[in-house]
Amino acid sequence: MTDPEIHKGLAGVVVDTTTISSVNPQTNSLLYRGYPVQELAAHCSFEEVAYLLWHGELPTPEQLVAFESLERSLRRLDDRTRRALDDIPASAHPMDALRTAVSQLGGLDATLQQPDSILDPELNEGRALYLFAQLPAIVAYIQRRRRGLDPVEPRDDLDYSRNFLWMTFGEVPDDVVVDAFRVSLVLYAEHSFNASTFTARVIASTLSDVYSAVTGAIGALKGPLHGGANEAVMHAFEEIRTADRAEEWLDAALAEKRKIMGFGHRVYKNGDSRVPTMHASLVVLADHYDRRDLLDLYDALENAMGERKNIKPNLDYPSGPAYNLMGFDTETFTPLFAAARVTGWTAHVFEQYAANSLIRPLSQYTGPAERHLER
Ligand code: CMC
Repeated sequence: MTDPEIHKGLAGVVVDTTTISSVNPQTNSLLYRGYPVQELAAHCSFEEVAYLLWHGELPTPEQLVAFESLERSLRRLDDRTRRALDDIPASAHPMDALRTAVSQLGGLDATLQQPDSILDPELNEGRALYLFAQLPAIVAYIQRRRRGLDPVEPRDDLDYSRNFLWMTFGEVPDDVVVDAFRVSLVLYAEHSFNASTFTARVIASTLSDVYSAVTGAIGALKGPLHGGANEAVMHAFEEIRTADRAEEWLDAALAEKRKIMGFGHRVYKNGDSRVPTMHASLVVLADHYDRRDLLDLYDALENAMGERKNIKPNLDYPSGPAYNLMGFDTETFTPLFAAARVTGWTAHVFEQYAANSLIRPLSQYTGPAERHLER
């Protein structure tokens, strides 16, 4: 028997079709339901993008008003969620707290108790919207608790992005900051069969529920090779400190065979299509906060990495320092990614349910040959 071809990490393997987004490294483009992500980032609210990912079309003005008002009505945290979060040490990683809270939301959803309801499209749309509305409240609660601050109640006169920042900081920042935040959410919302989305689809393919799929996806996103990279970029910046130390730091890190976080991508080998848009927002923020030094460090490490390895930044490279400038704790960066990506995850869960086939690959066994007990 010939050995099967192994595709380690499923690199290059096309697992299924999708109508949600397309990533084309040749043209360096990313389309959500056919729209270039740069156009969506320039012209759409995050609510419109969520609607687009779930429904396949942008909302009409009437549909948007109804969608926004439903989202605004679902923002308040249940006391049981607060208690679950309070039971986790404030020093725990925010991704661990977020994962626990989302899992608990599944346990609190009484409709899940009827097995028939797990795949019900209408109920699932409501569940996805609930997760979408709750995640900012959970992330803001975690961030404030880490700082010993009381939670801030949501405001239903604010859009999603403004309310998220309001609940986190207790004030709505200037429009340029809100806009950079909105852009980051749009760029993070969806990216085809990345590790966390694939995790969500594997879970959905067993006909498990949407909360389980999102809980698993959060676990996959946490790792530094995926979403955890935006946090790791900031840790690297903290180690480097100033632009003039970037080359020396990089040489030492590469000599130790460290991966440089925020660089490289499984699909894009000539640059991540989302980086120029997020970089432009980072430049606006650095100007707003008078932090040219951070941009200098950003440029110095990017140039050095280009010279040494010819590896380009991915989205996590500009978004990490952007979230830092906005005032988020470094450990909260990946939960922000999760709050955005929950839109893409749930869109994929629905697509999986709609044309399901259990995801169950094969492996080639390389352990001991058959043997028998000597008793
Ligand atoms: N730093 C140093 N070397 C790197 C890096 C990096 N960031 N990325 C790739 N390489 C090298 C790697 O060592 C390997 O070299 P060699 O062939 O000599 O062993 C070569 O480039 C190919 O890398 P790979 O790891 O086999 O490529 P991959 O497609 O499996 O990995 C990746 C993609 C994202 C896991 C990797 O580039 C990486 O670890 N990057 C750092 C973590 C990161 O920024 N992750 C965020 C990814 S994008 C946004 C997201 O999804 O969250």
